[in-house]
Amino acid sequence: MSRDTNSKVEAYINSTFAHEDKHLKNIAEALRKDDKFGINVGAGEGQFLQFLIGLVKPKLAIEIGMLYGYSTLWMARALSEGAKLISIEVDVDNYKKAKELISQDTSVGSRLDFRNGNGLDVLAQISKEISAQKLPRPDFIFVDADKANYRNYLDWAMEHIRVGGVIVGDNTFLFGHMIGEDRGEKTSVAALESMRYFNETLANAKNFRATIIPTYEGMTVAHRLS
Ligand code: DHB
Ligand code: MG
Repeated sequence: MSRDTNSKVEAYINSTFAHEDKHLKNIAEALRKDDKFGINVGAGEGQFLQFLIGLVKPKLAIEIGMLYGYSTLWMARALSEGAKLISIEVDVDNYKKAKELISQDTSVGSRLDFRNGNGLDVLAQISKEISAQKLPRPDFIFVDADKANYRNYLDWAMEHIRVGGVIVGDNTFLFGHMIGEDRGEKTSVAALESMRYFNETLANAKNFRATIIPTYEGMTVAHRLS
């Protein structure tokens, strides 16, 4: 289910704009070896996230759903001096693997704060740290975790994101289900309702400007205006 071969458009973008260095290649290789390749974002999507981080210049970015840290590394490389990326992963084996793989790139280490735990639990903890002024409010939030919880992740994100900040969601076509395309992938009613809520809430929020970047998976982007 490789993201690299889903369309000629993405293959062209990947080969022209989204060159992986040895560390990114290593992570992709580890995902392939463990039969998890394709659940990560593709190279072009990783590079697009990096592009957004470079524009938004967040002081605090949060990633919900790290897997082996492939998107994490793309994003980390565009962080400004003194900025931080908190990346959350529920699965302890994935979490350990991501830490190990990313630590091989010594240029990004100090900017990353890995958290192992359930997304909503870790977000609740981050809320406390924001209230205690141990963390600033986030200005970039990337949602790429369990699809049935996108609704809850969005509620948290809309409440916490700074004005000028950006919320991004991966897989917002929900494996074709949002656009009536049968890709032979099952989903749940909870995931369907959650993804509908995610896209429609952002589309209709008066204080956000939002759209979907039509990657094969769909990537919703929303800019908080006020
Ligand atoms: C799945 C999850 C993802 O975040 C993704 O990008 C692709 C697939 C999945 O759960 O199958
Ligand atoms: Mg995804």
